[in-house]
Amino acid sequence: RARAFASTAAAQSAIRRVAVIGGGQMGSGIAQVAAAHKHDVTLVDVSQEALERGKGYMAKSLGRVAKKKFPEDAQAQSRFVEEVLGRVSLSTDLKAAAGSAGLVIEAAVENIKLKQELFAGLAAAAPEDAILASNTSSLPIARIAAPLSAERKRRMIGLHFFNPVPQMKLVEVVRTDEAEQQVVDDAVAFVKGIGKVPAVCKDTPGFIVNRLLLPYTMEAVRLLERDVASPRDIDTAMKLGAGYPMGPFELCDYVGLDTIKFIVDGWHKEGQGLAGDKLFAPSAKLDELVKKGHLGVKTGRGFYEY
Ligand code: NAI
Repeated sequence: RARAFASTAAAQSAIRRVAVIGGGQMGSGIAQVAAAHKHDVTLVDVSQEALERGKGYMAKSLGRVAKKKFPEDAQAQSRFVEEVLGRVSLSTDLKAAAGSAGLVIEAAVENIKLKQELFAGLAAAAPEDAILASNTSSLPIARIAAPLSAERKRRMIGLHFFNPVPQMKLVEVVRTDEAEQQVVDDAVAFVKGIGKVPAVCKDTPGFIVNRLLLPYTMEAVRLLERDVASPRDIDTAMKLGAGYPMGPFELCDYVGLDTIKFIVDGWHKEGQGLAGDKLFAPSAKLDELVKKGHLGVKTGRGFYEY
């Protein structure tokens, strides 16, 4: 199989089969976008029920895409949805799914032990030249890859998508110190081939976007704690003064306060070079909201009520 790709189209055909592990919010979005760009995709989850839920997310999102693509033509809309869904197989058999994949993208829950076990299983099952990738937001790729052989580590990277995957253009391509340049190049070509824009970065906490966004949102919460301004005024200020599409409190509520707390606490405690960093120190306000179950849009209340 040719390793040096002359073009994105060639790269796309080289990575034809993609296995996506975890069919939640992110995994179903990744599977959908890859299938919409002509990849054969296998979506893997722990139960048939989880897989059907993932398929439901894809069908709903594809329905919206189809309406925009074929505004006046209901038949073309449903043909498009069927065709894309037709390229996604559902499976609870991780090993079988990985066995024929050129690229495996893991998007299961954010838990280091679970991810390490998953990758050990993937390494045992995937073809030798497959690229293994994790969509983790906050865990070091090198730590997830720790149980793998040196050869596998050379073909392991991060592919960090953003929520909602079908709409968000960016994918961070995370390069560990072990990863081969060719693997990074192939991943970049894959990302372009599915209509996304890659940003390559080193394997450091938060990569680019979250490393900059989390200190910013935590500082916004601290402004609130010091009673400098209300969430509404801070959001308005950042939207109109800095041109951001969402203010920091709207963003927190959208992402989920539990998720923000999980990431920030993890970095503050465990380090990855950030241990004890004041930027990521716990916030009483954030802790209180999470404790009360006010997690944002998903629970009907966070910094705002919905
Ligand atoms: P989710 O909770 O919506 O989905 C996780 C899915 O993984 C569930 O369907 C679950 O059944 C499945 N799963 C759990 N254990 C599994 C296993 N052993 N094998 C196969 N499937 C398994 O979570 P979400 O939000 O989709 O996040 C997934 C990953 O993506 C996490 O690592 C998260 O940090 C990362 N991420 C999340 C973003 C977000 O905004 N939600 C953004 C970027 C990355």
